[in-house]
Formats: sequence, C-alpha cells, structure tokens
Amino acid sequence: MLRSLSRVFSYVQAERNLKSAVLRSLWSAASVCSDFYLKPTMETKLYKPPQEVRGMTSLNKEAFTQTITVPALRVPNGVLNKVVKSLKKATIQRPGVPRVVQDEEGSSDFRLVLLDPHRISSSSSFSEGEAEALRSFSVVQELRHYELQLTYHNLKSDEVLEAVLPPGQDVPSGFSRVGHIAHFNLRDHQLPYKNLIGQVIIDKNPGVTCVVNKTNMIDTTYRYFKMEVMAGEENMVAKIKENGVTYEFDFSRVYWNSRLSTEHQRVVQLVKRGDTVFDVFAGVGPFAVPAARSGANVLANDLNPESHKWLQHNCKLNKVEKKVRTFNLDGRAFIQGPVKQELPVLLKGKAKVHIVMNLPALALDFLDAFRGLLPQELSCDENLPTVHCYSFSKEDNPDTDVVKRASCSLGFPLKDKCSVHFVRNVAPNKDMLCVSFTIPKEVLFSGDQEKTDPSEEPAPKRQKCEEATDS
Ligand SMILES: C[S@@+](CC[C@H](N)C(=O)[O-])C[C@H]1O[C@@H](n2cnc3c(N)ncnc32)[C@H](O)[C@@H]1O
Repeated sequence: MLRSLSRVFSYVQAERNLKSAVLRSLWSAASVCSDFYLKPTMETKLYKPPQEVRGMTSLNKEAFTQTITVPALRVPNGVLNKVVKSLKKATIQRPGVPRVVQDEEGSSDFRLVLLDPHRISSSSSFSEGEAEALRSFSVVQELRHYELQLTYHNLKSDEVLEAVLPPGQDVPSGFSRVGHIAHFNLRDHQLPYKNLIGQVIIDKNPGVTCVVNKTNMIDTTYRYFKMEVMAGEENMVAKIKENGVTYEFDFSRVYWNSRLSTEHQRVVQLVKRGDTVFDVFAGVGPFAVPAARSGANVLANDLNPESHKWLQHNCKLNKVEKKVRTFNLDGRAFIQGPVKQELPVLLKGKAKVHIVMNLPALALDFLDAFRGLLPQELSCDENLPTVHCYSFSKEDNPDTDVVKRASCSLGFPLKDKCSVHFVRNVAPNKDMLCVSFTIPKEVLFSGDQEKTDPSEEPAPKRQKCEEATDS
C-alpha cells in the first residue's frame, strides 16, 4: 500500500516538475516582450557571477564581485517604514543586500527602496494594492536605476556552484547533515571541485564546519561509509539530537542515518515501562537509549567496537547507563548468549519482550538463531517475544518477499502471522521494510538443535525453507 502511495507520489512529483518546466518556458517567452528590467533569461543572467569564475577549483571570492542594475523608488524618510511594509513582496530579497540605501542625490530627507528586478520592470508592475499604498503615501511611482555591487556573500550556494562547474552538468544539489558535518556523495565530474564545493557549503550554511564526501564504499560489516574531508575542520565527532535524545559519535567510524529518526520513534513508542528490549544491531543506540529513557530494561549489542564505545558513551550522556547492558558480540552470539539466558525468566513475567534487528542487508539471515533456542520444557504460549526485523527488498512485491525470506530463515510460515511496515525507499527499486512478529513457540522451543554453535554461519536447510514458505 505504502509502496503504491510512494509510486503515486513520484508520479505526481514528475507531473509537477513538468508543469513548472512549462511555466518556466512560458515565463521566459513572456518576458521577451517586456521592457528594460525583464529581459529574456533575466532570472539567470542578473545574479549570474562573472564568466571568469568558470572552472575555478580554488575559491577566489573577489572574482564573484560585479555591479548590476536594479530598480529603486525614491521615498521620503517620513513614510519609509510604511512603504517598505506595503511593498514587502516587491522589494529585493538577496542574502546580505539591504532593501533600503542612501539617496543617490545625497538628500538626507529621502532613501532609495531597492526593488526585485524580477517582479518590478516598470511602474505599471506594481499590484493594485501596492500602487494604492504608494499613492496614499504620496510617493512618486517613478523607477530609478540603482547600481548595486553584488559580492560572493550575496550569492546562494547553487548560484556559485552553477557558475563554477562545467555548464550543463549537475551541481551537487543537496547534502545531508549530521551535527556540524555536511556530507555529500559527489559524482565523478564534481570531484575536481570538491574543496571549493566544501568551502562554499561552509560559507553558506551556519553551523556547518566540516564537509565530507561519502564515497560509495560502505564498510560491509559495520555499515559506515568511507569518507574524505572536502573542507573545514577534521573533527568527525558529531553531536546531534534525535527525537529529543542527544547522541555523540565518530561519524567516520560508525553507522548513523538521520533518515531513520521516524522509524526509531515508531518502534520506541511500542515499548512500555518495565518491558525488556534486546537490540541485536544497536549501533550507537537510537533504539536502545530512548527505550531505556521510556523505562525499559535494555540489552544492546553491536559488533563494531567503535559503535559499542559510543553506545556506552550515549547511555551515560543520557543518564540511562543503569538501564542498559551493552555487549560487543556478533548478533548470533548475542541471541544465543544473553538473549537465551534472559528469556526463561522474562517468559514467565507479564512485561513485553521486544527484539530489534536493524541490519537490513543481513538481519533476516540471523532469524534462524531463534530455532530451538530454548529447551522444550520451558514451552509456553504466553509472553513470547516480538521481533522487529529489518530488510531491504528489490522485488516487485516487497512485503511478500520479506515475509517469505523471514519464514525461510525461521523455518516456519509467517504469512498472516506478521505485519510488514514500509520504512523508506533507499534507492530506485530498493525498499527498506520492517517485519514484526511474535516468535512462534514451535520455533523457539522446537528442539531444532542442529546449529547452535554461535561461531558457525547460518545454514538453513533448503527443504525446511520450502516447507516454511509453501504453506
Ligand atoms: C544498519 S546499522 C543500525 C544501527 C542502529 N540500530 C540504527 O538504527 O541506527 C547496523 C549495525 O549493525 C552492526 N553489525 C553489523 N554486523 C553485525 C553483526 N554480525 N553482529 C552485530 N552487529 C553487527 C553494525 O556495526 C551497525 O552498527
């Protein structure tokens, strides 16, 4: 359902882009017929930096300085504030450019109000309301030409980058931010400009002091990206807030994805005071720490020693170190060690047990670790743990795909016994989903003891897999 919605959304988006492209071309066709200020391509030309900056790889801010002509109104000081207020939509809007300047004729009784050249091309461009206001303040609606000096500081980052990078090629349009770090995924043709791009992003985004390029190389085990600093300080220890919780970590050595904040919140909201949460692939704690803050007892694990270190740090930072026990184990060893040890007592209680498994590339393969985890004599129907297991899917029907693979790994058919939540689209035709289910007692207590050595790779039997998914 959500996947269909996201497809509808992409379709609507594409339609919208098409509409705005048509509007843009209509606008430039219309502007050809206009007078002085609305020349064709005025939008792009007027604020376009000088040609000389094209191809620049080391930022020379002075080279962006130029003088342009903008329309202005001469306004008596006595009504200045009222006029500026009435012309709010007609005045110039540029970073660092004042809307009001000294009168060029040197009179201290007047000021010049600078107007947006894209909106005001002649005195007839004012809306009825604006014209009426000007009349009521006795302001002469005669436009002046004002020579405005534009510098690097008055340009937006995309204007700088479009002017520098080769024409017709994409400029890096967006970046993700983790605390003071802005991270890009640059294309090959952008690489020669990486230092300049980094410096522009620092200059134009308050709070960003370090810009990195995330290469496509993801550490296959620990899921963090290899990255290089494009500009700014080399400090990779970020401090961020997610859903009201503070985290610190070395972004170059652990996994962090700000796009998962809603998903972290969704799962944590299912956890009640007194519940127990086992977080098998905990990272730096975005499920574990808020769950502990909600009053749950948490056992959190990560194989990456660096993640484990920051997980402990974040527990202390948020004063929940007494509610969280941390482990630095392989996920399978964690399930067959601490989870196995704790479960017998928890099964007898009333509080819920949640097992979170967010390693979407592999987590489904770890589900077989639950097969026959507990001895038959402990078998019960009540208070069985709920698993939230994440997976990617590239199939046309991702929900069916993940349920099938989860069933296969568990050796038990989950169809109609689980729910699937769409988390996000991570790439074209690649979705991230979360499959949630109560571990069937037939799985947990099955006595299927074939593969309980934690050091061994999972080897679910083909026959069992077919049995599980056929039903
Ligand atoms: C996708 S991240 C998720 C981290 C965190 N739960 C979150 O939502 O941001 C997966 C984590 O699993 C850890 N990991 C990878 N392989 C593992 C394994 N075999 N056993 C335990 N942890 C593992 C990685 O170090 C990484 O921190």
